[in-house]
This record gives sequence, structure tokens and C-alpha cells, in this order.
Amino acid sequence: MTHSLLLLPGDGIGPEVIAEAETVLNAAALDIAVHRAPFGGASIDRHGAAITDETLARALASDAVLTGAVGGPQWSSQPYDNRPESGLLKLREAMQVFANLRPARCFAALADASSLKRHLVEGLDIMFVRELVGGVYFGQPRGIEDLGNGQRRGVNTQVYTTAEIHRVARTAFELARGRRNRVCSVEKSNVMEAGLLWKEEVTALHAAEYADVELSHMLADNCAMQLVKAPKQFDVILTDNLFGDMLSDEAAMLTGSLGLLPSAALGEAGKPGLYEPIHGSAPDIAGQGLANPCAAILSLAMAIRHSFGDAANAARIERAVEAAIDTGTRTRDIGGTASTAQMGAAIVQHL
Ligand code: NAD
Ligand code: IPM
Ligand code: MN
Repeated sequence: MTHSLLLLPGDGIGPEVIAEAETVLNAAALDIAVHRAPFGGASIDRHGAAITDETLARALASDAVLTGAVGGPQWSSQPYDNRPESGLLKLREAMQVFANLRPARCFAALADASSLKRHLVEGLDIMFVRELVGGVYFGQPRGIEDLGNGQRRGVNTQVYTTAEIHRVARTAFELARGRRNRVCSVEKSNVMEAGLLWKEEVTALHAAEYADVELSHMLADNCAMQLVKAPKQFDVILTDNLFGDMLSDEAAMLTGSLGLLPSAALGEAGKPGLYEPIHGSAPDIAGQGLANPCAAILSLAMAIRHSFGDAANAARIERAVEAAIDTGTRTRDIGGTASTAQMGAAIVQHL
């Protein structure tokens, strides 16, 4: 059966890393129909909107969507709800991909590329499950108000419901059962009611349906510290939209580079998945052939696993990435001199 994949390269290094994912996809010779559309700043420049209705409809009709990254200083004066980043949030919301899987694994050959000592990160394998379509990113009210006395007020609202917490927590517990069977739920229940509700609802769901999984709770500030103190204590980390964003960037450095971490955003079973490297458009290195394409290529592998149901080919691509790194091909961020295209070519060679 032919699967459909929508590629949204986006801005900055986005098109550079997606080009390498396409090279790998072609070399893997899978039965996949590929479509492309501009996204983020590129879509603003071409169509006036960070994502068009046509692209949204195409995304919902595809089996999977793979993005590069969006954003850049050129679009910083856009109205807030038409920034490149808001196009990404609209896409996540329209697709209702509530569970964002962000695996942070340290390849043995790269343990010295981490900013931590080798023994702290060697063998590291954490799965973040980040809630992706709720919380302070989407809560109402929001906005900037003029208070009329020379003062303004910026408002965002952290809000979660029982149903939103349960559906993402279920994903975390299910994943844990296939791993080391431990979930650490991370919030700020000490200062936020939404965090207290999070903790109570995760606890209740655990008792009712997942008592076989070991559940612990941690405050988010402590989690940030524990991640650099003893990261191997974690198996699955379940957390909200904002904490998950920050903690997964932090964890990326444990593995050597932000350019290595893929993600999969999943909704209800049978609905299309959204796959994104966790890094941004990296304006500081865009256009120079310096970007590490591994995160994008590993995101493609996650699409092949989770949306196309082809675990064998997903693993084949993941092994090729690790083999290319093992045999010494590395981009600058992981201590080498290979260009983006050379990294992609080395991965193709090991397929
Ligand atoms: P960033 O992730 O783009 O870059 C942070 C640092 O990591 C930079 O020094 C960059 O050079 C480096 N880096 C990132 N990806 C890399 C890769 N693949 N290879 C090598 N080095 C890499 O974060 P930022 O600079 O804070 O944000 C830049 C823009 O990207 C902003 O507009 C932001 O909103 C956007 N952004 C988009 C996404 C997305 O589309 N998914 C994610 C994060 C940030
Ligand atoms: C990410 C990014 C996005 C987020 C931005 C660009 C909207 O940082 O995917 O990690 O904050 O979710
Ligand atoms: Mn982020």
C-alpha cells in the first residue's frame, strides 16, 4: 500500500536538512507518495500566511507530515498570529497531535560530544512525552493589552483538563511498558493549580489502569537539575507543553547536539502523525551547509515506524545514522568537518 508523506521544509536550515531526509527516503526505495509545500516564513513570502488552508487540508489527508523548522529574524515584525511559529502551532492544533515523543539517546560514539562527562551519558535513553496541543501555548485568555496609563499587560494562561492529561499520560504509560517500565511525571504542583491537577490526574489514571508501571513525580525545576546531575535515572518523562519544550532541548545536549534529536507527534490511533526535528531554523548557520541532518533523518525514521507501520525500515535508517557516525562522518556540531550533504551521503551509504 502506498503511504503519503507531506514534506514541509520551512525556513533556515529546514530545507537543508529535509533535502537529506529526502535523499535517504529515495535511497531506501519505499512505496511512499511525497508531496511538498512551503511552510512558515517561506509560506508567508509566497502566500501571505504561515500555513495555508490548502496545506492544512493536505496535512490532514496525508499519512504523515515531516517538517524542517520555521522562523527567522526576517519575519519578526509579522503580526503575532501570522509568525512562522504560529503556522507550526496551527498545524499541531489542526492535527490534534497531543503526544510529542522526543527520544534522547546517546550514541556510544558520541558520548564525548556531550557537555557532560562520558560516564554520565553513555547508554542514556530517555523518552520525553510532551503534551503538545494544550497548556500555556494555547490557553485563553492571551494577548497584549494596553492599560492606558503607559503600561501594557501580556497574558498567557496555563490550562489543562482531565481529558487532556489522561490521553497524553496514557501514551507515556503504554510506552513505558515497552521500555524500562518507569514514568516520571513532571510539573509545578507546588505553585500552579494546573500542575496540581496534572499530578492528581496522572496519579488517578495510574492507579486505575497502569498500576504495573512504576510512577514517580518530580517538580520541573528539580528535573532540570537532575537531568544534568544524573540523567540515566530517567526512563519516560511525562510533562506539559512548555516544560517539555525546555527539558528536551536540555536533554539534547546530553546526547551531543540539538541536531541529533527527532520527534514524533501523535494523536488518536489512525490519524496522521507529525514529525519534526526538535531544533529550530538555526539562522546563525543557515545556508552554509553546516547543519546536522541526523535529527531530520531520524524523524523520518519515526514517521516510517509510527505512521507507516514499518519498524524494519525505520530501524534500518536508524542503524545507518549510527553507523555513519561510528565510522567517523560528523558535522561540526558533533566535532567533525562533514557538510550537511556529506553527512546525508554517508548515511545513504550505510543503508
Ligand atoms: P535553534 O534550535 O534554531 O538553534 C539553537 C542553536 O543550535 C544554534 O546555535 C544553532 O546553530 C544550533 N543548531 C540547531 N539545529 C542544528 C543542527 N541541525 N545542526 C547544527 N546546529 C544546530 O534555536 P533558536 O536559535 O533559538 O531559534 C531560531 C528560530 O527557530 C526561531 O525563530 C525559533 O522560533 C525557531 N524554532 C523553530 C522550531 C521548529 O520549527 N520546530 C523549533 C525551535 C525553534
Ligand atoms: C519546538 C519549538 C516550538 C515549540 C516553537 C517553534 C513553536 O521550540 O518544537 O521545540 O515551542 O514548541
Ligand atoms: Mn523547542
